[in-house]
Amino acid sequence: QLANLVVILPLPENVKEYLLDDGTLVVSGREDPPSHAQEGSDDAEEIQAPEFPEFTAKVQEAISSLGGSVFPKLNWSAPRDAYWIAMNSSLKCKALSDIFLLFKSSDFITRDLTQPFIHCTDDSPDPSLDYELVLRKWCELIPGAEFRCFVKENKLIGISQRDYTQYYDHISKQHEEICRSIQEFFKKHIQYKFLDEDFVFDVYRDSRGRTWLIDFNPFGEVTDSLLFTWEELTSGKNLKGDHDEGETTEQDCPVFRCTNSKVTVQPSPYLSYRLPKDFVDLSTGEDVHKLIDFLKLVRSNENNF
Ligand SMILES: Nc1ncnc2c1ncn2[C@@H]1O[C@H](COP(=O)(O)OP(=O)(O)OP(=O)(O)O)[C@@H](O)[C@H]1O
Ligand SMILES: [Mg+2]
Repeated sequence: QLANLVVILPLPENVKEYLLDDGTLVVSGREDPPSHAQEGSDDAEEIQAPEFPEFTAKVQEAISSLGGSVFPKLNWSAPRDAYWIAMNSSLKCKALSDIFLLFKSSDFITRDLTQPFIHCTDDSPDPSLDYELVLRKWCELIPGAEFRCFVKENKLIGISQRDYTQYYDHISKQHEEICRSIQEFFKKHIQYKFLDEDFVFDVYRDSRGRTWLIDFNPFGEVTDSLLFTWEELTSGKNLKGDHDEGETTEQDCPVFRCTNSKVTVQPSPYLSYRLPKDFVDLSTGEDVHKLIDFLKLVRSNENNF
């Protein structure tokens, strides 16, 4: 069943280099472009963006097999901080060029490529790592149906509404049912099957009440603890008192947290990754008048010196 939902492709070394490269201009027509044009050569070489014909073909084939639109990730992260730069303001990709634009604009992807073990406390040397491009079939997911689940010592200790910036009436009303069905899903499909005993997993509950696994994450600071704090989750302290008073708390019942009122609605956590709209308009040439104003400003500044 998963075969129709995900395709994983090894990321070639030269594509990784391209993703990390600040400049996009490299000598054309080579599968493995040199990082610098040959010095001393007087020939005016034709310069253009690099091409990866083999990899492009594989990605395009994968995208077609997944229905034409995909959600891209590297081994761990999706470029969620870069969605605003895409033409459709979304992570929905139809071609490798869409994926490159998002990956090259994303701090999360750069972190995966340059500091993959940043918060690891292990003393052993960092293992060598093979990067993979993960393509998931695009699904229109409703943010109010996503939940993050925290597992400590193979026990589901907490569930948080994933999009905590919004108040969702149905979550508050159905939280017992949601909690019960996620717990059931955990026991049936996940408990004792994951390699570690502490981890975090994300799920989606569809409109028919079925639970789908979205992702696994490390149990620790690199993962957003949403409506919990890592202090609570690691010590397990405040978690017991969370249950409604008078409710008979089963021993293995996880604590469920959701945004409880419209008052607590917050701005999107990704806003800080965005550029001011003026910058974006200027760089894309979207607003010609802004560009003219900007050039006039530069000129008048030059004249003042
Ligand atoms: N196949 C998909 N189609 C459309 N949107 C998706 C898909 N998979 C995930 N998403 C959306 O993207 C969000 C992030 O996905 P995911 O958890 O896999 O990324 P991540 O980088 O691991 O995020 P985090 O760092 O929060 O764990 C999800 O909350 C979901 O809203
Ligand atoms: Mg994740």
